[in-house]
Amino acid sequence: MRKIIINGPCEISGELEVQGAKNSILPILAATIISRGECVIKNCPNILDVHTSLEILNYLGCKTKFEDSTIVVDSSQISKNEIPENLMCKMRSSIIFLGALIARTGRAKLTFPGGCELGPRPIDLHISALKQLGILINNIHGNLECKIENKIIGADIVLPFPSVGATENIILASIICEEKTIIENAAREPEIIDLANFLNKIGAKIYGAGSSKIIIEGTNKFNKINKTEHAIIPDRIVAITLMAAAASTGGNLILKNINPDLISSAVPIFEESGCLIKTHENNIKIISPETLYSVKEIRTMPYPGFPTDAQAIIMAMLSKAIGTSVFVETIFESRFRHIEELIKLGAKIKINGNVAIVDGNKYLSGAKLQAHDLRGAAALVIAGLASYGKTIITGADYFLRGYDLAKFPNFLTIN
Ligand code: UD1
Repeated sequence: MRKIIINGPCEISGELEVQGAKNSILPILAATIISRGECVIKNCPNILDVHTSLEILNYLGCKTKFEDSTIVVDSSQISKNEIPENLMCKMRSSIIFLGALIARTGRAKLTFPGGCELGPRPIDLHISALKQLGILINNIHGNLECKIENKIIGADIVLPFPSVGATENIILASIICEEKTIIENAAREPEIIDLANFLNKIGAKIYGAGSSKIIIEGTNKFNKINKTEHAIIPDRIVAITLMAAAASTGGNLILKNINPDLISSAVPIFEESGCLIKTHENNIKIISPETLYSVKEIRTMPYPGFPTDAQAIIMAMLSKAIGTSVFVETIFESRFRHIEELIKLGAKIKINGNVAIVDGNKYLSGAKLQAHDLRGAAALVIAGLASYGKTIITGADYFLRGYDLAKFPNFLTIN
């Protein structure tokens, strides 16, 4: 297990460019198999989950190349439609290959996905929606054997919850349908818009992405696409991470390559804590106060609400604030595993069900910590940067699943 070592405190100041979004690049890489041509994807983050996706694409028979921040996928030849368990279990997002394989080959054989432990992460919404599209899915001891029964049927699918992954799988599987598919209560995340924009470039006809009603008009034009270029949107969760790191360490930071609209639910939280936020075109400047103040209540919600992925990150920041902040986690059942680690640094946090109450402590001090999930690891990194002394975080790979070290402040040693 690799470790992250930080000798704190480290002031996070200066200028940084925000990496491309993990939650965009992963579904888009899966979607490249539908194109049957060459896809050139720019602004790709160099993170472990991207390398796992490339391993899956190579296994399926695609040719891939990753140079600087550009990935080229040639999916003209696909030789398999199954994904082995050792690749599926590396990340939750591997399940998105289900919809993409169905659209490309009519079949998919895979296992349940792995990923961060955030409590139960079922895929029932994916399965019931795909069944409505006419896909037969057999679950044989955890192996999912999926195939189109006769043809994909256009359906009006109402999601009981705006699941990001289920919305993506429905879009991917339905784009080859000869009829119209409607998703109601669809996830509205910017990464869904990015996926739809990419798919429209390869010939799909998707309307309404970013709203809760998405319409997919099927097409079979995918054979004719030769080359597609696409640039991944910036990672809003990484932007929030960097801002929280600056705020917790008394830094002043300019972030480049980030559309401020993407983080509009987090800006009022930084402002309430005393930070000054200035935005100009695709730049955000954060000037941190001498003393951080608590924020009354932070409730995670589906987009455009405050993202669950930023909960641990902002909690790390407010562990240092004067006063009491309350966090309510409504998306995942068990997303507080960072708390016992933050407490080791001196944070004062109590948990009551899905509510965490944080009483700020201005003086955190370094300790040996264990990361349990990607954003929890980011929270520990922020707290480590803001603590006095040495912090050693076991489980560096969780962090590297989502953060491109080349675009992160140069204060972390990994070994
Ligand atoms: C995506 C993001 C992840 C983020 C999450 C919520 C990617 C690669 N990952 O994950 O970073 O934390 O959205 O914003 O984009 N659920 C079910 N049944 C299902 C599917 C989901 O009960 O079939 C539940 C989940 O357990 C969870 C909630 O719905 O409680 C949200 O899940 P979902 O939106 O599907 O998240 P992911 O797509 O896995």
